[in-house]
Amino acid sequence: MNYKSVLEKDRIFSLVAESAVELGFECYVIGGFVRDMLLKRSVKDIDFVTLGDGIVLAQKVTDKLGKKAKLSVFKNFGTAAIHYNDFEYEFVGARVESYSADSRKPVVAAGTIKEDQERRDFTINALAISLNDKDFGELIDPFDGQKHIKRKMLKTPLEPEKTFSDDPLRMMRAIRFASQLGFDIDPDTFEAISKSANRIKIVSGERIAVELNKIILSKTPSYGFKLMYHCGLLKEIFPEMTDLLGVDIINNMGHKDNFYHTLQVLDNISLETDDLWLRWAAILHDIAKPATKRFDEKVGWTFHGHEDKGARMVPGIFKRLKLPLNDKMKYVQKLVRLHLRPIALVKENITDSAIRRLLFETGEDIDDLMTLCKADITSKNHEKVKRYMRNFEVVKEKLIQVESKDRVRSFQPPISGELIMELYNLKPCKIIGDIKEEIKEAILEGKIENDYQQAYDLLLQLGVKYGLEFVGTTH
Ligand code: CTP
Repeated sequence: MNYKSVLEKDRIFSLVAESAVELGFECYVIGGFVRDMLLKRSVKDIDFVTLGDGIVLAQKVTDKLGKKAKLSVFKNFGTAAIHYNDFEYEFVGARVESYSADSRKPVVAAGTIKEDQERRDFTINALAISLNDKDFGELIDPFDGQKHIKRKMLKTPLEPEKTFSDDPLRMMRAIRFASQLGFDIDPDTFEAISKSANRIKIVSGERIAVELNKIILSKTPSYGFKLMYHCGLLKEIFPEMTDLLGVDIINNMGHKDNFYHTLQVLDNISLETDDLWLRWAAILHDIAKPATKRFDEKVGWTFHGHEDKGARMVPGIFKRLKLPLNDKMKYVQKLVRLHLRPIALVKENITDSAIRRLLFETGEDIDDLMTLCKADITSKNHEKVKRYMRNFEVVKEKLIQVESKDRVRSFQPPISGELIMELYNLKPCKIIGDIKEEIKEAILEGKIENDYQQAYDLLLQLGVKYGLEFVGTTH
């Protein structure tokens, strides 16, 4: 198959070909670009491999691209990358790599194009297209990558054990590509992952996190999680998640399998959002269920406090998985802690003040909390799902009503501490905080509206209560 006409659409290929001829190197475009071209997916990274020096080739291409091209050279790896417009072009010399058993650091030697292809992770990533004069545009596919793309199949070019022992991260990559592309994993390849799963330990947490997050962002992430579970990788990297598995039965009373429930919630939320952190909240919403599980003779299984304990578990999990310990973590924590609140409101009778309190605590994240809450409605019993959905809609309606009236979602105290100090000639002290708290409580309870004048009137009463002397303002 010849892809000359495809390559002619982007001038980078002729520039690279021209540079390679001038240097007397052979050159190929390889990897993700070729795979994604055949899958009709768009790409931002293009990898070039040359039977020569990748850095020298990259320098020549940079000169031809002109001022807008920014070159980065990684001497230790023998690679170079050009940043041009929104694209990243990577250059490397064809190589054979071998790894020692306890390290990811490869020993590298120059190789042929076929040797370079066979050291790659999957046949679909080992496809190359020639940029050489004699066969420009020709697909070079020694491992049936094209056939495997058609069959939607991930398979290693070499013995899978070898490919995975060269770089155990590839086990995560196999599942990531399967999940992103909706591909199967060839049985021998999958078996090799199952055998080598514990080798993932030698890979850095950061690299694992990149793949895990890509699985989570795929269209149906439960597929990737099920694959990770079945081959044993999930237990290695995220044991809290496999702890959710299983159902206990006492006196004929069972509970949901929280692993499969969590995956269902994750798939549900993925239909609504591409936000990684909201998806993480779905993954972690019931994470403390195993730790809080009790059996009560009268009511059956309970998981009291799993939302609070779950929120407390979030930092430890984020730290171990090398996820950011910043506002994103706090956001996930908050959603885990509050995930039962909207539906719990239905069980009491929904008062305006309960709604205002929820709005106040959740703030700008209320819509995300409602998305999580809706995704959490799963049951085999359709009547139950319908009933919960109706309740959910009632809460949603009520939230809209209360918010449009009271605007507590982005609550700003109507009376500032400064004003209190000025009116009563106070220095910073505890009373100011107490007064502000009482005003906030009165608003949330619905005793006064979220309004300056009503809050001011209440302040005057509170001033009397606290025995303060009113001096007024100068303006
Ligand atoms: N590769 C590999 N083993 C790895 C990582 C990468 O063999 N552990 C090879 C594959 O041939 C891959 C190419 O290097 O196609 C480029 O890697 P990368 O940019 O990480 O992945 P892409 O395949 O381009 O896919 P994506 O952009 O989706 O990550």
